[in-house]
Amino acid sequence: MENNNPIGVFDSGVGGLSVLKELVRELPNEKFIYFGDTLRVPYGDKSIDELLICTRRILDFFKAKEVKSVIVACNTCSANTLKLVKDEYDFEILGLIEPAAKYISSFKTQKIGLIATTATVKSNAYKNAIEPFGIKVFQQNCPKLVKFVENGELESENLQKTLKEYLKPLLDEQIEHLILGCTHYPFLVPAMKKLGLKDDFFINPAVCLAIKTKEFLKQNKLLNNLRKTELEFFVSGDTEDFKRNSKLFFDEVAEVKQVLTD
Ligand code: DGL
Repeated sequence: MENNNPIGVFDSGVGGLSVLKELVRELPNEKFIYFGDTLRVPYGDKSIDELLICTRRILDFFKAKEVKSVIVACNTCSANTLKLVKDEYDFEILGLIEPAAKYISSFKTQKIGLIATTATVKSNAYKNAIEPFGIKVFQQNCPKLVKFVENGELESENLQKTLKEYLKPLLDEQIEHLILGCTHYPFLVPAMKKLGLKDDFFINPAVCLAIKTKEFLKQNKLLNNLRKTELEFFVSGDTEDFKRNSKLFFDEVAEVKQVLTD
């Protein structure tokens, strides 16, 4: 049995493309509808009530598209709204935190760092999910980083200085790994590596979520039988801006449509 309905994927902006990349790698025969809430980015400074309004608006949009499941390609929503809305929809909604925490739980590591938005850090979602396994989580909120990525500013001196400031307290704690707790941050790994950090230092929760998504679709007989990946892109803000910015991160963005603008 198969199900050829699309999978919805959303974030506040281009960040979720780092998740879409992993999903396409793991599930090359699926149809994905990506939504970037670029009119309302950043999510990281919003209250839970504001995030709930954003999340429900997007899930209603996906419901109308008859999705078979939704991937929350945003840590801020995975941490703050996923549990609250999960039962309101009849499709499965998968987020980033649980699959990453499960993967990390098998590490022999004692100290792990987390960089994330203010709302994700405040929620303590990663800390609460990982610390029961005897691994201490040191959190750092990084409110300035999303803007660098949304503006395509990936190499500036200002970015290097900002990254250094954010990472210093974590490195001083001698963390052994760093969770990229915002989907915009995988695009900053090349800049972080310039500070001497190695690839295996970083944990990208999107990789764990993509594996979990495949498992879920398989177990529930929801896999597609398409021969290739199909992609559709929607944003709430300017379509040309998104097209231009997304080029840096994801080659396959062709047509972008505007929806949910009020
Ligand atoms: N990329 C999102 C996250 O993973 C949201 C970032 C933001 O808009 O502040 O948290």
